[in-house]
Amino acid sequence: MLIYGTIYEARSEIKRLRQSGKKIGFVPTMGALHQGHLSLLEKARAENDVLVLSVFVNPLQFAPHEDFEKYPKTFEQDCQLASAVGTDIVFAPTVEEMYSKKAKTYITVSELTDYLCGEKRVGHFKGVATVVAKLLNILPCDKIYLGQKDYQQFLVVKQMLADLNFDTEAVMCPIVREPNGLAMSSRNKYLNEDERAQALCLFEALDAARALIIDQKMRETVEIEHILRVIIEKKPAAKIDYIFIGEAESLTPITHIQEGSQILVALAVFIGQTRLIDNVLLEVSL
Ligand code: PAF
Repeated sequence: MLIYGTIYEARSEIKRLRQSGKKIGFVPTMGALHQGHLSLLEKARAENDVLVLSVFVNPLQFAPHEDFEKYPKTFEQDCQLASAVGTDIVFAPTVEEMYSKKAKTYITVSELTDYLCGEKRVGHFKGVATVVAKLLNILPCDKIYLGQKDYQQFLVVKQMLADLNFDTEAVMCPIVREPNGLAMSSRNKYLNEDERAQALCLFEALDAARALIIDQKMRETVEIEHILRVIIEKKPAAKIDYIFIGEAESLTPITHIQEGSQILVALAVFIGQTRLIDNVLLEVSL
């Protein structure tokens, strides 16, 4: 496994591999790899000749009050895990390598960022879209793999790739959960044992949403939202940032669920100081 810290080295190697006709799969991460990341790497490994991983905690996607400084850093372990699943190249630049102080160009994706994390973390997706575009310019690849846990991020990246004519396909991989249902996240590392137990309320609420919408055919979103709110607020450490029920494709909220539509139910909840997100996609049959 090759590990590069500079744009020049990583770009030269990818260029060489592309010229020899290799299919390249890319998994961008901020490190602190867990089973969710490994599932992306495994899928990318199976579908490509060359597997590239980036590890870069991107300051541009964090607001000043957020956890950029304390974001977990486990680079040695990340490399061991990456190597074990057959990663060929790790690109791990410094902030100085990635961002010139003179940079004046940023990418914003409109509409898809109006709600959910786009509304609550202003500027976050500008940071994500910009860094993903930069990474793909450094490491042009055939497919980029992203997790459904960050469903809005997936749609934003997919839109950006289409709008800016990147020759890269975005592939979404399912959410990986712990046996009890908690979605895998690097931020789970911040939770103590008690918070970890309380964090299950996200999964419980999403499971309830599925039962209400699919089994009980509840259609008014205020009613569904109220029930989810009650489930989450039973946990003393939980503070709801948002509950979103809306169209999965446009990411616009709805008041009434139409038969035959694809619905996204997404949550952002603080458990103590830690902000967790989770979601479920539901096909509402006719
Ligand atoms: O999902 C992440 O870890 C990040 O948002 C990404 C896509 C690596 C961009 O920094």
